[in-house]
Amino acid sequence: LVNKPEVVVFSVPSYACQRRTTLENQNTTLTDALSLLAENAELSNEDGRGVAFRRAAAVLKVLPSAVQSMSQLTGLPCLGEHSLRVIKDILENGASNEVESTKKSEKYKALKVLTGIFGVGAKTAARWIREGIHNLCQLRESGHTLNRAQQAGLEHYDDINQSVTKTEAEVIQEMVEKAVASVLPGAQVVLTGGFRRGKMSGHDVDFLITHPEEGREVGLMPKVVSWLEAQDFLLYQKTTRNSYLESKEGPGRPPSNMDRFERCLSIFKLHSVENQAAVQDVTKRVEGEQRSDEQTRPWRAVRVDLVVSPFSQFAFALLGWTGSKLFERELRRWAGYEKAMCLSSHALYDNKQRKYLRASSEEDIFAHLGLEYIPPSERNA
Ligand code: CTP
Ligand code: MN
Ligand code: MN
Ligand code: MN
Repeated sequence: LVNKPEVVVFSVPSYACQRRTTLENQNTTLTDALSLLAENAELSNEDGRGVAFRRAAAVLKVLPSAVQSMSQLTGLPCLGEHSLRVIKDILENGASNEVESTKKSEKYKALKVLTGIFGVGAKTAARWIREGIHNLCQLRESGHTLNRAQQAGLEHYDDINQSVTKTEAEVIQEMVEKAVASVLPGAQVVLTGGFRRGKMSGHDVDFLITHPEEGREVGLMPKVVSWLEAQDFLLYQKTTRNSYLESKEGPGRPPSNMDRFERCLSIFKLHSVENQAAVQDVTKRVEGEQRSDEQTRPWRAVRVDLVVSPFSQFAFALLGWTGSKLFERELRRWAGYEKAMCLSSHALYDNKQRKYLRASSEEDIFAHLGLEYIPPSERNA
């Protein structure tokens, strides 16, 4: 008998919400390439193509070892013709021409630079590029009127495009907790987004705020914002009030992907850790900032998202704001296609029973959906 060389054949369920995706990834070369194509598609307003590349990358993220040959991929879900071609190029030639030329293309580079401005999305960037604006210098010279968010985004461009560390997220968490405790004792603050999934860095810091007595959370955000402003902790903020009740979303009207919670998109002024002590002391703070004129300034700008949820919707809000974005999208797709249910960050509606299903924890929601519970650290699809 001849020993056959061992070929690992992979098997993966088709929805990302059926899989455990940790931050460990044996196929980073392939997933980085597919993620870049996904990003390029999203920046080009081709969301369908973007999702296809994201799904393909997510399948490769859960494989227990590095892919060696195309034959190992037989039968795997979500790997379309285009993604397979990219994978094949990388396995055979060490790189994909499409990925390399995208990276170098003027259009991709300009889209990246312009959408790196907080408040600038793919549509605005595309319009500017059509007018010949490819970088920040050209944008400044163009004389375009920028909105308040974009002005702040441009002003703090370098800080905002430098990733936030876990340590910085923890300092911001203390600031938010202090603000919330000061204006509404008993309210709860939970870190969500990528940091809740165990990431060591992120592009922003996300928080969900609630109060165990339903109704006490109403009007909370403006008070939190005032408190933070009084401490000089905010460089920018825009608060949007809760519009869930008046939206009359529900069985007849499927909810949009955007939730309707009271939210605040903000930019925090984070004093460097060495300066934390000085922040407590106003006299030293002034000294610190004067010193900064000669040396480096003692603070940096950090993007922070704050969301307030009524307690009865908290489990849905927590699940919805923990991500990853693909994991969320897959949960909603699973709910709709496999369970005839409609999941949002506010509620879960069962179309067959014609009723809302209650949940007081994320575990409850997975159970309603007939899914095994996946903890946050395994939602990194
Ligand atoms: N989210 C949302 N509605 C928005 C923006 C974000 O529901 N308008 C949700 C996303 O679906 C995601 C979570 O908020 O689940 C966090 O989004 P984001 O901060 O963009 O991504 P992270 O996963 O935290 O990654 P990063 O580290 O880059 O911040
Ligand atoms: Mn985030
Ligand atoms: Mn993000
Ligand atoms: Mn965010």
